[in-house]
Amino acid sequence: MTLHELATAAFTKRFNYAPSHQFYAPGRVNLIGEHTDYNDGFVLPAAINFGTAIVAHKREDTIVRVCAVNFDEEVVEFDFGLPLFPSAESTWANYVRGVYDILLKQNHRVCGLDIAIAGDVPYGAGLSSSAALEIVLIRTVSALAEESIDPTQAALLGQQTENEFIGAHTGIMDQLICARGEQDHALLIDCRDLTSKPVSLDPTFRIVIFNSNVKRGLVDSKYNERRQQCLQAAHVLGVGALRDATMPLLQSHQDSMDDLPFRRAHHVISENDRTLRAAEALGKKDWVTMGQLMAESHQSMKQDFDITVAPIDGLVGLINEVLPAGAGGARMTGGGFGGCVVALIAEQYVDAVVEHVAKHYEETFGIRESVYICQAVNGAFVA
Ligand code: GLA
Repeated sequence: MTLHELATAAFTKRFNYAPSHQFYAPGRVNLIGEHTDYNDGFVLPAAINFGTAIVAHKREDTIVRVCAVNFDEEVVEFDFGLPLFPSAESTWANYVRGVYDILLKQNHRVCGLDIAIAGDVPYGAGLSSSAALEIVLIRTVSALAEESIDPTQAALLGQQTENEFIGAHTGIMDQLICARGEQDHALLIDCRDLTSKPVSLDPTFRIVIFNSNVKRGLVDSKYNERRQQCLQAAHVLGVGALRDATMPLLQSHQDSMDDLPFRRAHHVISENDRTLRAAEALGKKDWVTMGQLMAESHQSMKQDFDITVAPIDGLVGLINEVLPAGAGGARMTGGGFGGCVVALIAEQYVDAVVEHVAKHYEETFGIRESVYICQAVNGAFVA
């Protein structure tokens, strides 16, 4: 059954009538450019063929009833005419409450809804299950309340939901790519002016995601702390955002700066540069350079930004044991502290890499990996 079929079956069972509309938003994988978005920098993500589907029907009152297929078809109900707060129970529903709260606060049109949600983005894996949910919700509410919201505006509303209602101080990357991704392309996004440039993906390479199955939580993780440390480093360097800092500027402050903000800034400054070079290398199918940049990015996340964990480093090591230069690359993707490794692999090497990881990952780390071979797809707001 497709996600929409699953959602329709649950909707019909719970609400005793059929939904009228359906929407979908993809998750995403970031190829390079980690923890650069909230520093006004560059990222290179792609929307992937794992996502969140909604079926819905408009109501004439201010009630919202939501059925979550992935949570045993649990139904949560709220009245958007009353003040909305995050709840400690059924926390998945906070995304729905949050989207309504932000849409109302920003004077957007909303309406009562019955909806059912089904998704296949793994939770807590760093593949943006929450951004996919926010974006598909915004798409649904705006369509049924008959308001047109453009993709960038939708992304900003999704980010605001995350920042203000959920309490995770994330950047704009996830929501932007979920809304604006393009089939068979990654997007080089400038997170300062929110412009983007599509970079076509080599059809002879595969996007292979290895989930370490080490669980991570954005809110309680060190994410917000990293963001603070970057702000602190920018302050010491006398720039508005680390995007504006250069390596020579950073080097000139080495003696007057603590090691920690120095290393955080070192990651962000070098990662911005790698991301720009990676977009160029990918566009030119220069796989030797692309593989090197992914390896350097991983090292930088490990040594300077301290966001990798042993199983993630282990996965990257195992992949690199099989891949010769020019056949691809691998790095941790997403916020960090677990989650996934993204590998770009020449198609003739995919089986060998997957087999090698299957043979050694669980034996070393005691957890079994999951593997997703992905395609880059259109975002929720792309026709
Ligand atoms: C999470 C956040 C993004 C971004 C990445 C790290 O996915 O939601 O905004 O900061 O981490 O690159």
